[in-house]
Amino acid sequence: MWATIILLWLCVWFIILQFKCRRPKNFPPGPTALPLLGNILQMSLDNPLKDFERLRKTYGNVYSLYLGPKPLVMINGMKAMKEALVTRASDFAGRPQDLFVNHTTEGTGVILADYGPVWRDHRRFALMTLRNFGLGKTSMEDRIHGELQYTIKELQENNGKTLCPQHMFHNVSSNIICQVLFGKRYNYQDKFMTEIVRCFTENSKMANGPWAMLYDSLPMIRSWPLPFRKAFENVKTVQKMATDLMEAHKKIRVPKEPQDFVDCYMDELDKRVDQASSFSEDQLRGNALDLHFAGTDTTSNTLLFGILYLMAYPHIQERCQQEIDQVLEGCDLATFDDRHKMPYVQAVIHEVQRNANTVPLSVFHATTVDTELMGYSIPKGTMIIPNLSSVLCEEGEWKFPHDFNPENFLNDEGEFVKPEAFMPFSAGPRMCLGEGLARMELFLITVTLLRKFKFIWPEDAGEPDFTPVYGVTLSPKPYRMKVQLRATQ
Ligand code: HEM
Repeated sequence: MWATIILLWLCVWFIILQFKCRRPKNFPPGPTALPLLGNILQMSLDNPLKDFERLRKTYGNVYSLYLGPKPLVMINGMKAMKEALVTRASDFAGRPQDLFVNHTTEGTGVILADYGPVWRDHRRFALMTLRNFGLGKTSMEDRIHGELQYTIKELQENNGKTLCPQHMFHNVSSNIICQVLFGKRYNYQDKFMTEIVRCFTENSKMANGPWAMLYDSLPMIRSWPLPFRKAFENVKTVQKMATDLMEAHKKIRVPKEPQDFVDCYMDELDKRVDQASSFSEDQLRGNALDLHFAGTDTTSNTLLFGILYLMAYPHIQERCQQEIDQVLEGCDLATFDDRHKMPYVQAVIHEVQRNANTVPLSVFHATTVDTELMGYSIPKGTMIIPNLSSVLCEEGEWKFPHDFNPENFLNDEGEFVKPEAFMPFSAGPRMCLGEGLARMELFLITVTLLRKFKFIWPEDAGEPDFTPVYGVTLSPKPYRMKVQLRATQ
């Protein structure tokens, strides 16, 4: 009987060794992967960030894993990240095309478009349109200040009380980008607003959550009625909303007199009507939703972390307020240019972004050709995960890599400096195209709110918890804050 069991056990191992995933020649090293399952059982599906760090310590800055039967390469640390995303930019600028996220978004949009003319044309168009609608000019600042008035009113009404800001910043940033895209803002209780924020936040958590990992690893389960179906439903919901807005535009638009992104795109469709072009109504909807999603869940989660840190470190909040009061004395509103006169506030906002680590694994890349990285060979079509968190807290790159300390961004003269390892927006040709808008929002919203209000950690709330909730974007756990109008107001 024992002989049979041992023989069976040896047979199972023999089969596993025969069928185990074999790494290509000179491929980055990594843990042994099981047939079919890959490395999925060796990682926490809820939040694999700690596992990625553990594997980095064993295998180095460039290592490989198997997602089901498919190999992927994890890139860590600034040196490898720069070699991949900047030095070998086009080699690493693709996107994987057979993941859960591709299937939910039906292959449209700019975020997940593979490297090539469709992506290039739509990225260029989005950047140009954002610029034309005032990025870097006063009109975008006006839009941000205008939207912020609704939040200020709500906070004033709650003066001295405690409230949960869970959706507060999502509403603000969703409306700011919504005005650029669709020329419209919504009341925070409006069904459009509550639904779109719900769908975006749910999908951001599902997109690289446990069910998405199983979906990507085990193709056979993809058509089963499992919880990942919810993400598909959410996409259908937001697609219907965007389609309705596009139809409404068609009825009232004046060609060549665009009022927003949708009008601009429709003008472009008119221009290209007789040409073979990648511009289409499906792409318009996909691109608008990409910008709306990317412009909502990122900035708002960063701001949520920001308020949490400022409550946990009241002396840092006070020092920001002193600088703001001094620079803005006699001025009605802050401008984005004021940042040059506020080195400490700038340092704090950047330190918030570094610790918030809002998009920890960037958006996954793919190699576009057979290429090399740090001496390893990586075949064309390999999925690449740029672990941005590993750079944002890399030892040797920061004065205080593991603390919340604005000194990370200040030199001995108290001037603002931005270390090379600050890359929350990633780097290279796929770098975040909303960086300009995001930075403007983070600065104007933080400064305006800190000028008017003091944010206090409620006495009965225990210790602040910075442990993030994992997803494509990290968010803080829901918390409460006490808000108080400042004496100077
Ligand atoms: C704090 C706020 C933000 C952070 C931390 C952030 C971060 C990122 C990161 C890490 C990527 C992936 C880059 C890569 O693949 O290498 C990305 C891509 C992107 N972001 Fe942002 N983002 C922010 C705000 C925004 C805003 C406000 C918008 C919209 C206006 C936006 C639009 C996009 C788009 C469209 C892409 C895809 C670019 C491409 O594939 O070519 N992001 N972002």
